Amino acid sequence: MNDMTPLPCASTVRSGKQARGLHVITWGCQMNVYDSERMTDVLRPLGYEAVDAPDRADMIILNTCHIRDRAAEKVFSELGRLRLVKEARAQAGQQTVLAVAGCVAQAEGREILARAPYVDIVLGPQTYHRLPEMVARAARAAGAVIETDFPVEQKFDFLPPEREVPAGGAAFLTIQEGCDKFCSFCVVPYTRGAEASRPVAAIMDEARRLVAHGVREITLLGQNVNAYHGDGPDGTTWGLARLTAELAGQVGVERIRYTTSHPRDMDDGLVAAHREQPALMPFLHLPVQSGSDRVLAAMNRGHTAQEYRDLVARLRTARPDLALSSDFIVGHPGETDEDFEQTMQLIRDIGFAQAYSFKYSPRPGTPASNAGAQVPEDVKDARLQRLQALLREQQDAFNAASVGQRVDVLFTGRGRKPGQISGKSPYLQAVHVEGPDSLIGQVAEVDIVKLHTNSLGGVLTGETDRV
Ligand code: SAH
Ligand code: SF4
Ligand code: F3S
Repeated sequence: MNDMTPLPCASTVRSGKQARGLHVITWGCQMNVYDSERMTDVLRPLGYEAVDAPDRADMIILNTCHIRDRAAEKVFSELGRLRLVKEARAQAGQQTVLAVAGCVAQAEGREILARAPYVDIVLGPQTYHRLPEMVARAARAAGAVIETDFPVEQKFDFLPPEREVPAGGAAFLTIQEGCDKFCSFCVVPYTRGAEASRPVAAIMDEARRLVAHGVREITLLGQNVNAYHGDGPDGTTWGLARLTAELAGQVGVERIRYTTSHPRDMDDGLVAAHREQPALMPFLHLPVQSGSDRVLAAMNRGHTAQEYRDLVARLRTARPDLALSSDFIVGHPGETDEDFEQTMQLIRDIGFAQAYSFKYSPRPGTPASNAGAQVPEDVKDARLQRLQALLREQQDAFNAASVGQRVDVLFTGRGRKPGQISGKSPYLQAVHVEGPDSLIGQVAEVDIVKLHTNSLGGVLTGETDRV
């Protein structure tokens, strides 16, 4: 069942190992996208190469998310589908190693093995560097391998330094992981563990390699990325503002983003960085969750609605063209109609360029899941509809106001129509232009001329000038 004897199909790859297909399915946040890339990097020396169809894969990894109920359920339905793939391949004499990684693996490892005994490896987010050893153990053992402890050593010290650099000029780079905030509703502190920051030197090295491979935009990732406090090369602890300054100045990263920030960790130095550092993109994801002080306190967010408004005002003073996105939860236990109206008012007061919004979903083991006063589903539905309508209105207005503007676009790939290329504006809006493939991976000036439902149409300024 778990035998890893070389498979008949394969050709030989650079490392001299037999080539094997690896198919990774990723759910959840950007950190999971980053982790999936790194798991692929870890397995490459064993001969694994990415394939886009599970039925051609000798190993399939599901990198999962546990943030809301439906996210976890999707994993089990996908596993049901993959079981058939695995059985069909077995009938053709091909083995398939099926691994479940990520936050569902961390939170529900034993349940996965009980509900899906055909899974070979269950591994939590802190154990990815040990994948080769787990694959070998799965090959030797008759039963499944489960690794969900939080080892003391930092996985980053053991991940291979070489990364396959994504095409298109943009990359993620994890600088901090875990969370000590324990918001009442959230599983992340339980699935990702305590907050830990990578040392500055390791981050700079990784960024240097990305830039050398043509990366122009780096998004720094962390569950609480602005709580970053890494060991600096000078023996002091560095915060995020100092790190971004160095990444722009020393490493030459042209565009820097960071996500996700907590309002509580947005200190004066970081606010000032938005004024002083042109490499910082004028778009910030700053989750607020609710506009009601009562709900914010019940959520254990550690700030009031007014403190959030004041923080946004300071940020906008520092960088007047800054636009904001946010996360909202409706129907947290105890949320009344009045609390909800306060959230609507906060949205009207601030004005968001973009936002994610969710119905509260009870997560086992979190304090809010045991709270009384759960809000009925139909009330949550009605609130979410109103909230999303308002946010959509604001997003449409923001995008409409882009028409007529000249912006720098990082072209990340081909567009849908022939001759088209597409990219993203400083505000992460999708932009399409007629242009040559040679611009993919480059930043170019674009005049925005048209508003589509979910994107913007533009013209390269070189061409406008010629007209
Ligand atoms: N600080 C984190 C937040 C992760 S969770 C980060 O790095 O992104 C992303 C968003 O999911 C949260 O901001 C919150 O709005 C939402 N969320 C988290 N737990 C939830 C739950 N139990 N029900 C509904 N939404 C939830
Ligand atoms: Fe979850 Fe709150 Fe931590 Fe964000 S800050 S990861 S919402 S506990
Ligand atoms: Fe989901 Fe885990 Fe990210 S629960 S949002 S994949 S940290």
